[in-house]
Amino acid sequence: TANTMWGGRFAAGPDAIMEAINASIGFDKRLYAQDIRGSRAHAAMLAAQDIISSSDAEAIGEGLLTVLSEIEAGEFAFSTALEDIHMNVEARLKEIIGEPAGRLHTARSRNDQVATDFKLWVRDQIDAAIAGIEALQRAFLTQAEAGADWVMPGFTHLQTAQPVTWGHHMMAYVEMLGRDASRFRDARARMNECPLGAAALAGTSFPIDRHMTAEELGFDRPAANSLDAVADRDFALEFLSAASICAMHLSRFAEELVIWSSAQFRFVRLSDGFSTGSSIMPQKRNPDAAELLRAKVGRILGASFALFTVMKGLPLAYSKDMQEDKEQVFDAADNLMLSLAAMEGMVRDMSANREALAAAAGAGFSTATDLADWLVRALGLPFRDAHHVTGSLVALAEENGCDLPDLTLEQMQQVHSGITAQVFDVLGVDNSVASRTSYGGTAPAQVRAQIARWNEVLG
Ligand code: ARG
Repeated sequence: TANTMWGGRFAAGPDAIMEAINASIGFDKRLYAQDIRGSRAHAAMLAAQDIISSSDAEAIGEGLLTVLSEIEAGEFAFSTALEDIHMNVEARLKEIIGEPAGRLHTARSRNDQVATDFKLWVRDQIDAAIAGIEALQRAFLTQAEAGADWVMPGFTHLQTAQPVTWGHHMMAYVEMLGRDASRFRDARARMNECPLGAAALAGTSFPIDRHMTAEELGFDRPAANSLDAVADRDFALEFLSAASICAMHLSRFAEELVIWSSAQFRFVRLSDGFSTGSSIMPQKRNPDAAELLRAKVGRILGASFALFTVMKGLPLAYSKDMQEDKEQVFDAADNLMLSLAAMEGMVRDMSANREALAAAAGAGFSTATDLADWLVRALGLPFRDAHHVTGSLVALAEENGCDLPDLTLEQMQQVHSGITAQVFDVLGVDNSVASRTSYGGTAPAQVRAQIARWNEVLG
């Protein structure tokens, strides 16, 4: 039998394969709350504009609440023949309230309906992502406060570069996450225009009030062009893009955790709650959650690729291709929220090994730059010459199998006769980090200023 929602011109129903490829109810049932909210706003507006009677609108509004509670109680029988959440809800409404249900779809199409529902859903996920990001920022802040002056090696090329502070390293992630949150906020502001009332693509001849529904649904304004309103999936792409960048940031710290928790580094110990064991090697504490976070960016960025590829080249306005938007966004959102929560747990519970960090901070000639800077300041050498002299001193230390502070003054003077005992003041890692007081630098005072600013921002 033909579809009851659109089958008027059809003699026969769809082939089973057609039904299988066409149906989205298997996944878009997640939009039920947004769909019912949008329909209630639409019905109330239709009554306010005298397009339907207020008794019909009341019956629709009440009936939709019954449908909502049935779905929430798990008592709703979703039907593949009814394709998607929109028609499932409306068909059930008809069973409950009868004839007035048929008036709900006046001045509306599934095209503006799905765009509205999906925007409402993505908007909630943006809010959840921001909350998750801020919780993670607080965890990094707590770590930074505890170790604002703990020294550790800073790396470039994963080779020892210069000593930095633990707090400084933690605060670097607070900055990255701050940009992630701001990207989500920007996307939210841009997407917050309501497609409802665009109808199929051209608007409607009914005297609807799009400002009323936009306001009721928490949008800033109605979308200004009905063709664009039903064709736009920018909001989903922006969500996926922001999610991909955020997941990329999480993968970077995840990688650091994998390295740092190794027996070779021992910079951090992950808690029991965020480590796993091996079924054969009893000594193991594996950083599985960190490894999974390192990987999650693959599927989140993959979702973004997938939807970009769906949208490219689509002519205006709506095409069924766009039904492929939801699974990508659902999967990316689920995995981003899980990743943020897992990272928050790991960061909150991890303990830094202050001694191992300090020991590593001094290794690898990490204060060579301090030595070169000293030659510039104390002896007036041009930096390029100071760089060269320091390089020779590093080579000498390497030959002797010692670190820079272990060279004697006499050995140093053989490389450059002007060097005095004062040089030893700058070779210690604590002095090194304390000296880097430039704005945003690693000196504990600068790190504490960053912490204070972020504490204020996060409240
Ligand atoms: N299930 C569809 C989707 O997710 C709803 C819109 C269908 N519109 C239509 N004209 N067939 O995109």
